Amino acid sequence: METASRLNNFEAYLGTQMNIILTKMREEGKDVINLGLGDPDVQPPERQRKVLAEACLDPDSHHYPSFYSTKPLLEAIAGVYERRFGVSCDPETEVLPLLGSAQGLFHIHTCLLDPGDIALVPDPCYPAYIAGVKIAGGFIEPVPLLKENGFLPDLWDISPKIANKAKMIWINYPNNPTAAVASEDFYKDLIEWAMKYDVAVISDNPYSEVCFDGYTPPSFLQFEGAKEIGIEFNSLSKAYNCCGWRVGMMLGNRDIIAGMKKIKSHADRGMFYPLQVAATAALNGPTDFMEERNQMYRERRDAVVNGLREIGMEVETPKATFYVWSKVPEGVTDSKAWCLKVLDEIAVWMIPGSMYGAHGEGYIRIALTHPVARLEEAMRRLKKFVQA
Ligand SMILES: Cc1ncc(COP(=O)(O)O)c(C=O)c1O
Repeated sequence: METASRLNNFEAYLGTQMNIILTKMREEGKDVINLGLGDPDVQPPERQRKVLAEACLDPDSHHYPSFYSTKPLLEAIAGVYERRFGVSCDPETEVLPLLGSAQGLFHIHTCLLDPGDIALVPDPCYPAYIAGVKIAGGFIEPVPLLKENGFLPDLWDISPKIANKAKMIWINYPNNPTAAVASEDFYKDLIEWAMKYDVAVISDNPYSEVCFDGYTPPSFLQFEGAKEIGIEFNSLSKAYNCCGWRVGMMLGNRDIIAGMKKIKSHADRGMFYPLQVAATAALNGPTDFMEERNQMYRERRDAVVNGLREIGMEVETPKATFYVWSKVPEGVTDSKAWCLKVLDEIAVWMIPGSMYGAHGEGYIRIALTHPVARLEEAMRRLKKFVQA
């Protein structure tokens, strides 16, 4: 059976292919350390899990849920943005819960792009942006994220001809994969630039609560004019340690929210009711567990950064996300070939930077989703490999 030709325009998600290879290696008895995994080994707080379990026992929980989510969930999402960022959003028209932010990241392209339209996509970037643009029939104009610019896009360097034609720009800080963060001035400049060229800003902010050393990431929406020109995605996945729940959200511009509601009315039947109840409780509940969790990630980050520096690899200490973005060792020219060799020889998997775009070449991404002892073991193996 022939499938649509548009499927030839993008790759399947790298993680799905690697999971098959890593599972096979484990079945063969290899002690694989998967430093590619963006799914933390930490649990949601027990109170969060209990609310979910109890809601599942309610016999009324198992019908089709309400299409656009319950009022308490909409209000809880708006409440978090108000308390955390000082952003006021109308729960009815400026908030939309999602089945994981990944759902929104995908459909936003269908919402904003007509076939042939241009989307400005950072390079390197989270790969779902690329697949989304291509499925919508859009064209990608890559915006390089360079080390010398702190892995921020140089907006005014984008040719005015391209900027005038572009319909949307992706922004993702704290960033996956580079772990870079953006200053308040960056967001103010972004809004000025986006208004000048009438480009919708799509901010992806799932790591807003994973931060260290006194740094607290802002939201794009907290800056003047943001709601006129864009939206922000966020998620319970990383903030509340529950990637498997698939609970995400978008907030901001009401025209974009209305468009996404229309798409979602056909794309899904709403969020499983117990998840709505549990997500509402989590968002309205205490966030003290985040501090302890972030302290744990900080210790892991230090173990990896110190380990890489000992090997002689060039790496910055990230202020947010649970990723470390490091240069490959001197002399390595192909990050993918090198990572596959590392996997083959020492059973440690790190994601080659080239998987996130051409400007990711020369880098690797390491996820801090294992205990310190396991990360140290990976660094020991890597040291031996590099020195050999
Ligand atoms: C930058 C970025 N955006 C979005 C997502 C998807 O998050 P969710 O679990 O809410 O679908 C991820 C997940 O790793 C991510 O790294």
